Amino acid sequence: MQVSTGGRRALECFARKGSRVGRVRGAFGRSEVRRQMEIDTTVPHSARVWNYWLGGKDNYPVDQEAGEQFLQVFPGMAQGARASRAFLARTVRYLAGEAGIRQFLDVGTGLPTADNTHEVAQAVAPEARIVYVDNDPLVLAHARALLTSTDEGSTDYVHADLREPEVILEAVRKSLDFEKPVALMLMGILGHIPDYEEARGLVRQLVAALPSGGYLVINDGTNVLSDANVEAHDQYNESGAVPYVQRSPEELGGFFEGLELVEPGLVSVTRWRYEVSGFGVPPEVDGYGAVGRKP
Ligand SMILES: C[S@@+](CC[C@H](N)C(=O)[O-])C[C@H]1O[C@@H](n2cnc3c(N)ncnc32)[C@H](O)[C@@H]1O
Repeated sequence: MQVSTGGRRALECFARKGSRVGRVRGAFGRSEVRRQMEIDTTVPHSARVWNYWLGGKDNYPVDQEAGEQFLQVFPGMAQGARASRAFLARTVRYLAGEAGIRQFLDVGTGLPTADNTHEVAQAVAPEARIVYVDNDPLVLAHARALLTSTDEGSTDYVHADLREPEVILEAVRKSLDFEKPVALMLMGILGHIPDYEEARGLVRQLVAALPSGGYLVINDGTNVLSDANVEAHDQYNESGAVPYVQRSPEELGGFFEGLELVEPGLVSVTRWRYEVSGFGVPPEVDGYGAVGRKP
């Protein structure tokens, strides 16, 4: 992997895995590059703690400690993380299947795990094209594991920050055709933008780039079911990690301004088209999600 600090696209390399070439790009401004490329094992990181809750091994003692302390206060978090991944798989299956979407932009990818977006999408539509975006250096280090693809489709990775939507859009236009529908996925990331109006502005900017027939998918932690969950988040946010704010379902609904919500609308993630699992009505978790279509 070649890294230079010389410009906007500070990093660009190609990873060969399977039969396809995946592309890794860096899209930070010059000043951001060094800070955002170093793996810091002294404070917990969202992608790594999330990986710990999902039962993964790509985390450090500082993440395990923060993850465990969280679970001691709110044991339901591990179940919430799994429910959120299951929501991701159901929404991507719906989009690639029923909605006919062939391009996915997944911002806040996280570390590779089961049912990554490209695997789910390409199982339905082998020609699907996926671009992943994250700002965590460990996710970048693991990006090669994500860069598998069918021969017909493609999978690329951009190392960039949600707070720079214009930089993200410039980088992903090399892989995705914004004249055709794109599904923008913001899964568990908007809570990391604590200021609601800033988060809405970022979503608005990215959605503005989608053509008619594009989709927005969001899931995020909410604060409606459990005081223990709120307390656990407060504790986590004092750990030195990038804070994560829980929002009300109404606030999450605000991100879908101007879009048509796909049935069943904004619900606890376990309740979104759960019928496909063939089991009964699942218990709710403290995380809501929805899929919106740009008219
Ligand atoms: C809770 S994890 C969710 C991972 C994955 N989307 C999922 O649903 O399983 C949040 C992810 O967002 C990334 N993230 C947080 N803030 C970000 C930012 N400002 N720009 C880009 N990525 C960010 C983290 O590095 C992490 O990988």
